[in-house]
Amino acid sequence: MMVNIAEALPIHAAAIARVHDAAFGQPNEGRLVEMLHDTGRVVLSLIAANQGEVVAHALFSRVTLEPVVEGVQWVALGPIGVLPQLQRQGIGTRLVTEGLDRCRFQGYDGVVLLGDPAYYSRFGFVPARDFNLTSDYGDGPAFQALGLHPTSAALQSLRKVIYSPEFAAAGPG
Ligand SMILES: CC(C)(COP(=O)(O)OP(=O)(O)OC[C@H]1O[C@@H](n2cnc3c(N)ncnc32)[C@H](O)[C@@H]1OP(=O)(O)O)[C@@H](O)C(=O)NCCC(=O)NCCS
Repeated sequence: MMVNIAEALPIHAAAIARVHDAAFGQPNEGRLVEMLHDTGRVVLSLIAANQGEVVAHALFSRVTLEPVVEGVQWVALGPIGVLPQLQRQGIGTRLVTEGLDRCRFQGYDGVVLLGDPAYYSRFGFVPARDFNLTSDYGDGPAFQALGLHPTSAALQSLRKVIYSPEFAAAGPG
């Protein structure tokens, strides 16, 4: 399937929520996207479109480190969703790789996410603990990180990734 990757516009909001509702089978992720847009935490909102229809979406938003590291800004990837009937055709891969490129180009230091390592390791994600990062959501294998620059080496000492409050408010993933 041929899809175009583009930055989401406000007119795409309803279609994006529908994609997540279908992909996750619950309203929490679509709600999370709307909340993060409303509170200005969004770094990058990418859609995949086929013949003008939104078929997939990925969101990158700012997180904070605690204690703060001056001049260092990480982002969180999520949610990412592809319409069920179009999964496993490489669309998710295109959204992730394009999103990582754009975040790198914009100068962000790295990306964290909560997801299945079997999927995300192919993009270079490793356990976030390798970067000296932990999170409110624990630091098990699902919590992964990727440095975007050669200089985004592990932090000097342990930092906690604080997700935007919208992640908790939107409900469990
Ligand atoms: C996860 C998701 C975004 C991946 O997008 P996609 O377009 O289906 O994935 P791609 O086609 O790019 O990649 C497919 C590959 O990923 C693998 N894959 C897909 N989902 C996977 C998962 N949950 N766990 C492990 N591997 C997975 C497939 O086996 C396939 O591998 P292969 O090419 O080696 O056979 C999509 O399947 C989706 O929306 N799922 C439901 C919502 C969800 O779980 N989102 C992610 C939460 S972290």
